[in-house]
Amino acid sequence: MSLEYTKKKREFNLLVLPGDGVGQEVVNEAIKIIDVINEITDIKIKYEFDYIGGACLDKFNESIRTETIKKALKVNAVLLGAVGSPKWDKQQPEKALLTLRKKMNVFANIRPIKDYFNNNVDILFVRELTGGIYFGPKKLIQTKKEYIAKDVLVYKEHEIKRVLKVAFELANNRNKNLVSVDKANVLISSKLWRELANKISQEYPQVKLRHMLVDSFAYNLIKNPKDFDVVVSENLFGDILTDEAAVLVKSLGMLPSASIGYKSNNGLYRGLYEPVHGSAPDIANQNIANPIATILSVSLMFKYSFNLPYISILIEKAVMENLKQGVLTKDLSNNNYYHTTSEVGENIKNIFKSLLKQELQVLKSQKL
Ligand code: IPM
Ligand code: MN
Repeated sequence: MSLEYTKKKREFNLLVLPGDGVGQEVVNEAIKIIDVINEITDIKIKYEFDYIGGACLDKFNESIRTETIKKALKVNAVLLGAVGSPKWDKQQPEKALLTLRKKMNVFANIRPIKDYFNNNVDILFVRELTGGIYFGPKKLIQTKKEYIAKDVLVYKEHEIKRVLKVAFELANNRNKNLVSVDKANVLISSKLWRELANKISQEYPQVKLRHMLVDSFAYNLIKNPKDFDVVVSENLFGDILTDEAAVLVKSLGMLPSASIGYKSNNGLYRGLYEPVHGSAPDIANQNIANPIATILSVSLMFKYSFNLPYISILIEKAVMENLKQGVLTKDLSNNNYYHTTSEVGENIKNIFKSLLKQELQVLKSQKL
């Protein structure tokens, strides 16, 4: 750990896109963690804010600007709050997020589903993020009789293989148990998916691969969550199943995500980090949203994009300690009393700061 600390790259660029609704509020809290690191370590994370979604439509009349995408392709990581605003529904601000994911080529969306309250659930969900029905041809056709709407589900072999490889690698580093979710009894893309999973599985003889149909998986996820270690699925199934999985950990406000693609030349993953939840316009600007999903997304950023796993672990520890202290937002509280977004963020920041100080003290005493 000490060697890791002394020898690794310690300067990073971060693009911050708070976006819409609660996005701004939760990102504010997550940035406090980055500020602490800049303040008390020699790791330097330069960050810059920009616009996306409805916030960007308000200011520039488009949901994401070309220059923002260009920036996203240069930095080490992008931190995103949420995208989606009822005011701009017709313009579909969500498209900006899909464009960003596609341009960054972050095809593997890693969503850890961890129950920090009683350790009952620890699943790593890998969702394919840049293909499938989200990105296939779409058409609204008006005939004499009626409208016909088309969303086409397309997967190319290489798109399936690369995300499956990520899932096998992750499973290999955990409990070696991988479930691949599909609908192979109906969809041809799922048949190909299953075939390719079986093929790749030969390269990972230690990993136990099981196939499950999406409907049956949706049922078993709630019934026997302990049966699952790493789960992989195509884009739309992954979107739906991870919101469902949030029930297992009490709140959607607890789920972070990391979206990664191929490794960059510097050996690190350029990543897009965002909470699994959306912009939640119904609770926006009330200082009641749970900032933990976004703070944990920053933890994932240190793991996957900055390759500083010990910082990642300290952030997670700070979140766990905060929960132990019962400093909870409305979504987690069992009674009428709850803490605000900024109180939770502030408490996690303070815990993190003292954990990090302790850690630096230890390193110093080892004269490194
Ligand atoms: C998510 C969100 C997005 C998605 C929306 C906002 C387009 O629901 O990240 O899960 O469907 O991917
Ligand atoms: Mn979703």
